[in-house]
Amino acid sequence: MSAESTAESNSAEDNVAGEPAGSDVVRIFDTTLRDGEQSPGCSMNTAEKLEVAKALVDLGVDVIEAGFPIASPGDFEAVQKIAQKFGDQTTICGLARCRPEDIDRAAEAVRDAELKRIHVFLATSAIHREFKLKMDKDEIVRRAVEGVQRAKESCEDIEFSPEDAARTELDFLCEVVEKAIDAGATTVNIPDTVGYATPAQYRQVIETLRQRVPNIERAIISTHCHNDLGLAVANSLAAVEAGARQIECTVNGIGERAGNAALEEIVMAIRTRFDHYGVRTNIDTPKLCSISRLVCTVTGQSVQRNKAIVGRNAFAHEAGIHQHGILQERSTYEIMRAEDVGYVGTNLVLGKHSGRHAFRDRVAALGHSLDPGAFEQVFADFITLADKKKEVYDSDIVALIEDRIGVV
Ligand code: KIV
Ligand code: ZN
Repeated sequence: MSAESTAESNSAEDNVAGEPAGSDVVRIFDTTLRDGEQSPGCSMNTAEKLEVAKALVDLGVDVIEAGFPIASPGDFEAVQKIAQKFGDQTTICGLARCRPEDIDRAAEAVRDAELKRIHVFLATSAIHREFKLKMDKDEIVRRAVEGVQRAKESCEDIEFSPEDAARTELDFLCEVVEKAIDAGATTVNIPDTVGYATPAQYRQVIETLRQRVPNIERAIISTHCHNDLGLAVANSLAAVEAGARQIECTVNGIGERAGNAALEEIVMAIRTRFDHYGVRTNIDTPKLCSISRLVCTVTGQSVQRNKAIVGRNAFAHEAGIHQHGILQERSTYEIMRAEDVGYVGTNLVLGKHSGRHAFRDRVAALGHSLDPGAFEQVFADFITLADKKKEVYDSDIVALIEDRIGVV
């Protein structure tokens, strides 16, 4: 892709406010507060959930899955408070198994939201049918239908998930999905519960549903991908290519085991490669870094330095050749603008791979002007120091300058 087309797809007008007319929207269903919170060490109290929910509303997510109300009184309370506080701004969803008591509890928790959804789920794969549920196919269909119908009594917007869908026989998956839509499901979510799918296979599942389920156009097809093989984002995007129009994901990709598809990666892939996907999201992308940091603070789980989009190194350049390129024209080594995800600017990290161009820029930014001879001496000192340190900080550079030319 040319630098021009990269810049074009990155333009601010393309994203939140003014996506080209006629393009399609992929809804972002955030489950940080439900599936994300289920990950070891990530549990949040109600006050923390409310803080994250506010940031999710500001970010522009279409649906917040706020919790699993039957799970505990604390979960119920958090879903209820989030529904009361933010349910006029974005859809608030509560999760329920296909059991009357679960569904009624979820209905009660989201009751006060103007925009509410109940998400009912039941496993459909042979492994889950035989070992977990001990139910045959007929019983699964019956319970799924009854679950959707019961939820529909208190809420228009119903999502149904055949848990472990990616490992379910395709004929049976088509049957369950068709019956769930007939019973009133407005979104059908296709979970890759154990992160087993590959992009081509998952895309095929969505294509098959669109070809074989006669009433499929009455519902939105949703993705829910876990990251056990590191494929959650790739699988979700493959499903978008096949026509899925809701993606379930979490901030920083937190979630059970290896986590869920990472919201920030999904959103920026769709935005940056608008030329390929031809769809957009409603996410206000400059808020991505701050919500990532908020979730790190609240959960106590930091993201790795090289994490795409929000990691500390995501926009950092150390190699001299790269730094020189960036200083001339950013699109040489950056496919996104740092400010579009909430970074203040490109971070040129000074280390042993850095060159004179970046070093000269930093010396000037630190308020120093060195004659060519002094510059060469300080640069040589810098390279010697950089060989010993992982990263050279501004304070180190100031010290090197002062050592050579004295305090100015
Ligand atoms: O991974 C999964 O299958 C789930 C369902 C409850 C949607 O989280
Ligand atoms: Zn899940």
